[in-house]
Amino acid sequence: NRPKPLAGKHAIVTSGPTREPIDPVRFLSNASSGKQGVAIAEALAALGARVSFVTGPAQYRQPRGCAVIDVETAIEMDRAVEAALPADIAVFCAAVSDWRVETPADDKIKKDADETAPTLTLVANPDILRRVSSLAGGNRPRLVVGFAAETSNLLENAKAKLKRKGCDWLLANDVSPASGTFGGANNTVTLLAGEAVEAWEPMDKQAVAQKLATRIAESFQRDRRI
Ligand code: C5P
Repeated sequence: NRPKPLAGKHAIVTSGPTREPIDPVRFLSNASSGKQGVAIAEALAALGARVSFVTGPAQYRQPRGCAVIDVETAIEMDRAVEAALPADIAVFCAAVSDWRVETPADDKIKKDADETAPTLTLVANPDILRRVSSLAGGNRPRLVVGFAAETSNLLENAKAKLKRKGCDWLLANDVSPASGTFGGANNTVTLLAGEAVEAWEPMDKQAVAQKLATRIAESFQRDRRI
């Protein structure tokens, strides 16, 4: 009985959308299902990792064999990730809302008598991937993986994002209409690792998760980042 390749390793996986309140009954969010995040969390757990799964309010089922930490907002997600550290591996699958409403209303916003629409002032949310990638020394997970959904100039945009975020690997996902990713079963993914670029054949989200987890395990076994 050989030990599992990621036994003794701690992985943090973020997943799902975030939800940014406008008032007590309204929010800004997006349609992320959390499916890819769940698949990655389970694939890492299957290889022996202890997985902290930090998720926004997603409809998809929760991952088996992982510690689930439920959050709503990007700020809560950032704090939950911070609290879950230290980790050896961090995979950022969440579709974090880029903005939040600066001051959510305490009461439900009412329609004016003259029906003037309210103005929402938005402020930027923390970039969790970038922050964790830039942590110093022992606080930084050894392998930080980000995602990028792109509709055009996939490689160019993904390479720039890898640099800007400071993560080790970036999984670039072609979500252009021509790729059939949206609403389809398959993902068309390119893995960027430093200068290396590896186009994966179209495969479903389960297979993307398996392949990524296997690559992560290999990188730990070889003790290098690619
Ligand atoms: O900049 P963009 O949203 O395209 O970056 C996507 C990647 O960054 C994903 O891995 C996502 O989980 C992560 N991200 C984050 N915090 C944000 C925005 C994005 O962790 N506020």
